[in-house]
Amino acid sequence: MKFFIDTANLEEIKVASQWGIIVGVTTNPSLIAKEGRKLVDVIKEITTLVDGPISAEVQEGNAEDMVKEAFTYAEMHPNIVIKIPMTFEGIKATSILSSHNIKTNVTLCFSVAQAMMAASAGATFVSPFMGRLDDYTNDPEAGYSLLEDIRIAYDNYGIETEIIAASIRHPKHIEQAALAGSDIATVPFKVFTQMIEHPLTTKGLEIFRNAK
Ligand code: G3P
Repeated sequence: MKFFIDTANLEEIKVASQWGIIVGVTTNPSLIAKEGRKLVDVIKEITTLVDGPISAEVQEGNAEDMVKEAFTYAEMHPNIVIKIPMTFEGIKATSILSSHNIKTNVTLCFSVAQAMMAASAGATFVSPFMGRLDDYTNDPEAGYSLLEDIRIAYDNYGIETEIIAASIRHPKHIEQAALAGSDIATVPFKVFTQMIEHPLTTKGLEIFRNAK
């Protein structure tokens, strides 16, 4: 399973990129807004930090406007992936962009049916949101089950659209994404810092450090 980082914060990306395990970046309008800078400026800087797919989300609207906005991002750098919301206009825009070989990431996916539509439109990536689905259903395994079912459905037809496990809230989601066979997990910086920790690791390190 590949790791992307889910942030628009350049400091977090700079630190994480040094670990040698981050192969992509996802952003969204909320993450961009948090930085208080223009999307194009943030995305341009991210392209200098990570050499891999970098998702920039278009404003939701009609297909024509989304495609127009998408082209302005795509021409910035070959690694730019256009993040598109799961609507009929978004599916239409995805179909148009994939016919122009522009990479897409269909986001806000919460069902197998939606994931199948994204794949049929030629989406490069689809982003099922684990945390938000767990919260909505009050079931800590709802996101896990969704990923498992999308994996089965995609494998039934040899679908090449890559699954990006998104809306990750804690290390357990990483375990669930890996066990479900997600191609990618896009992880907030804070969750990476939780993933590396385990009380027995800490204890073991202390013992080794004090060994004389
Ligand atoms: O960026 C897409 C997704 O990972 C955001 O998830 O629920 O943390 O806003 P969330």
